[in-house]
Amino acid sequence: MPEQDQWTAVDDYIVDHLIDDDPVQGQTLKANREAGLPEIDVSAAQGKMLQIMAKGAGARHILEIGTLGGYSTIWLARSLPANGKVVTLELEEEYARVAQANIENAGFGHSVEIIIGAAVQSLSDMDDRPEAQFDFVFIDADKQNYATYLEQSIRLSRPGTMLVFDNVVREGEILNPDSKDPKVPGTRALYDALRNHPGVDATAVQTVGSKKWDGFLLAVVR
Ligand code: SAH
Ligand code: DHB
Ligand code: MG
Repeated sequence: MPEQDQWTAVDDYIVDHLIDDDPVQGQTLKANREAGLPEIDVSAAQGKMLQIMAKGAGARHILEIGTLGGYSTIWLARSLPANGKVVTLELEEEYARVAQANIENAGFGHSVEIIIGAAVQSLSDMDDRPEAQFDFVFIDADKQNYATYLEQSIRLSRPGTMLVFDNVVREGEILNPDSKDPKVPGTRALYDALRNHPGVDATAVQTVGSKKWDGFLLAVVR
């Protein structure tokens, strides 16, 4: 697909100009590959976007739903002020083990906590934690639960908390109510839940790049 080659070339150009050489994240991706993790992390440009958004928001407590090997987690941890914290949720024990090693390798062992288990359950157990009023939330786990994660994230937020959902366009498949991609109905349910939602203001922005045609949905808690 010629467009894909161009999108990737432009991403390379962006990274070349705007992102410092990043041996640490190179090591993260290498460790993920060696452990056989799926290559579905955010791109470098997208990871740095998350870092910039969280930093711009002044986030001290960050929640991530969907750790994989910790690539996006490390970008988010890079935004933290001293004494800030990322809490990240992962279903797969093996992925969490790989992520923990990557996070320690990146120097964030002290500021990141991985919680293993189904995120819907982990989130409902989270109210009593001191950091459980999050300033920034990145939602990137199973798309089937996106509408549930929306409500759980709002419950763990304050007015002004920013919520960022990944993969909300899926090469246009979100237009297809009969999509064969099992992740699409969950994402469509998120859009439906956000129509006239009283708790947040939301938009979505389409993206192209090395991770194909997709998009982010951005919401801020009222
Ligand atoms: N944020 C990562 C990519 C996450 S991929 C990055 O950009 O680097 C999605 C992750 O969500 C996978 O690791 C998958 O195991 C995890 N996941 C899937 N279902 C889940 C669930 N029910 N609870 C928690 N994590 C889940
Ligand atoms: C998939 C998940 C993601 O979070 C992503 O960014 C890309 C693909 C997937 O499950 O296929
Ligand atoms: Mg994703």
